[in-house]
Amino acid sequence: MKTIPVRLKERSYDILIGQNLLGSIGTSFRKAGLADRQFILVSQKNIWALFEKKISESFAKEQIQYKLFLLPSLKSSEACKTQAVWSRLIKSLASLDGKNRSLALLALGGGVVGDLTGFAAAVYRRGIPYVQIPTTLTAQVDSAIGGKTGVDLPEGKNLLGCIYQPAMVLSDISALSSLPDRHWSDGFAEVIKYGMIQDVSLFELLEKTGLQALRGDAEKFEEVIERCAKIKADTVEADEFDKKGVRIVLNFGHTAGHAIEAASAYSRAYTHGEAVGVGMLVACDISRSLGVLKDANLTQRLEKTLMKFNLPLHFKGVSAGQVLEAIGYDKKSIQKKNRFILPVKLGKVTVVKDIPSEVIQSALEGRKG
Ligand code: GLY
Repeated sequence: MKTIPVRLKERSYDILIGQNLLGSIGTSFRKAGLADRQFILVSQKNIWALFEKKISESFAKEQIQYKLFLLPSLKSSEACKTQAVWSRLIKSLASLDGKNRSLALLALGGGVVGDLTGFAAAVYRRGIPYVQIPTTLTAQVDSAIGGKTGVDLPEGKNLLGCIYQPAMVLSDISALSSLPDRHWSDGFAEVIKYGMIQDVSLFELLEKTGLQALRGDAEKFEEVIERCAKIKADTVEADEFDKKGVRIVLNFGHTAGHAIEAASAYSRAYTHGEAVGVGMLVACDISRSLGVLKDANLTQRLEKTLMKFNLPLHFKGVSAGQVLEAIGYDKKSIQKKNRFILPVKLGKVTVVKDIPSEVIQSALEGRKG
């Protein structure tokens, strides 16, 4: 097992990464001083079914008490990230409060479970501890680390939220083995992102191997998760509250990516990672046309790497104009301000503001399949 510390003074915590960690989760909780709390374990029915035996047995050995809170089974997990579900979770906390033990939360699942649970922990009694147990690749390399929490409003995603760090992140790599293929590709988009923004040798490893080879090599794969978690931890340490222009680079590919997701929300044609993959290419295309990216081969290398992880190179089903509108432009606000993270060279990105809308539109048109 590898331990990666996230050093944030009194908000510091460890990320534990390894195989079969859930089998000894009780011991990890005891070592972290969390075993004497009353937990509410937040998860989804199908995820809990996979890990119930291991977790309940290990908790029983350490006499760790927990109550289960399962999110409703809706069409998409994002549909659970609402004020209504969050408020039910808060009420469950209140119903257990004042008994023998102090309360804490545990998020077992992907980004939705983590965000919702973290936001309940952040505000209940002005903050109680919570543990992140990410069970998707995206959550293990990105969303479970760094304390971004929140729920959606009808007006937009994550509008209600705050940054509130977990007490521990426990990433059991063996928990990923039951993920469907598309979830693997989804998570690898974020891994490729770390290569593009910072880690040249990680990118080179990804471009040489590809999805199947990496999934089949447990040691290499574990090293990849550790490297991504370390980059995320370092970035969060440098700019915990996303105010210094450091953490923002983690949003590489996300400006156009989020807009593609938002524009195609009705069809839900793209996973987050698929949209981010195309978004990274849009950023490369914009960067080339502005002369920020001089290396003519980088876009092609990124395309080849995305293909090796079964990620698309184009978006379909919506127009470039609809995506531009989702970025924040409409016919009335053509001069609206924007901010993109653009590659300068492999392993280095920069923030560029106020890019002319024609440049963005032309990059989007080039990525329309
Ligand atoms: N997922 C981007 C961040 O945590 O800042």
